Amino acid sequence: MRHHTRGHGHGTIDGKASRRYDVLARLLKRRFYRRIAADASRSAPEGGALLDIGTGPGVLLMELHRSRPDLALTGVDLSADMVAHAERNLEGHAAVRRADAAELPFEPESFDLVVASLSAHHWDDPAAGAAEIARVLRPGGRLLVYDMGHAPFDTIAAHPGFADVRRGAFRTGLGPLLRCERFEATAVA
Ligand SMILES: C[S@@+](CC[C@H](N)C(=O)[O-])C[C@H]1O[C@@H](n2cnc3c(N)ncnc32)[C@H](O)[C@@H]1O
Repeated sequence: MRHHTRGHGHGTIDGKASRRYDVLARLLKRRFYRRIAADASRSAPEGGALLDIGTGPGVLLMELHRSRPDLALTGVDLSADMVAHAERNLEGHAAVRRADAAELPFEPESFDLVVASLSAHHWDDPAAGAAEIARVLRPGGRLLVYDMGHAPFDTIAAHPGFADVRRGAFRTGLGPLLRCERFEATAVA
C-alpha cells in the first residue's frame, strides 16, 4: 500500500493506494479508531487542542469529533491525496493540512495532546518527528502513538523532551488482523 515519491517522503500514501486506504479505514477498521478515540480521550483535557500526525483519511479524527466535540482537532499528513480524503470525510470538523512530521507548521506549545496511529513507522526521520512533537506539545502535554512493533518507539522515547514513557500492547478490536502497540509519553518543559 506504499507509494514512493521522489526523494523526500518515502512513506507517503498517494493516488489509488490512498483511495483504497480511505475505504479500508472507514469501513473495515472503524472499531480500531473507536478504541483509540476512547483511549486518547482520557488524556485530553476539556476543550483541549489535539493534533493527529499522519492522519490519513482522518477516520480517527471523525471518531474523536463524535465522542469529544469539545476538542479542537487538527490533522496533518504528508500526502496531499490523504489530506483531500480527510477534508471530505471530516466536513470541516477538523483543520487538516499537508505537513511532514519532521517539520510541523505550528507554534511551540500549541497542543495538549498529539496522537499518531499507524503512521510513525512510515516517517523518514522519526528523531526529527520526536523533536517536533516535543516542541508543539505544551509542558505536561501527552503523546500517544498506536503502531506496529517495528515502529520507531525507541527513537521517539530517546528525545529528552519526553518523560514518563510507557509502552504496551493495545487491543485493536480486530484480533489477529491488526496487532499494535500503545506508546505514551509526557512532554517536559
Ligand atoms: C498507514 S497510514 C495511517 C493513517 C491513519 N493515521 C490511520 O490510522 O488510518 C500512514 C499515513 O502516514 C502518512 N505519512 C507518512 N510519512 C509521513 C510523515 N513524515 N509526516 C506525516 N505523515 C506521514 C502517510 O501519507 C499515510 O497517510
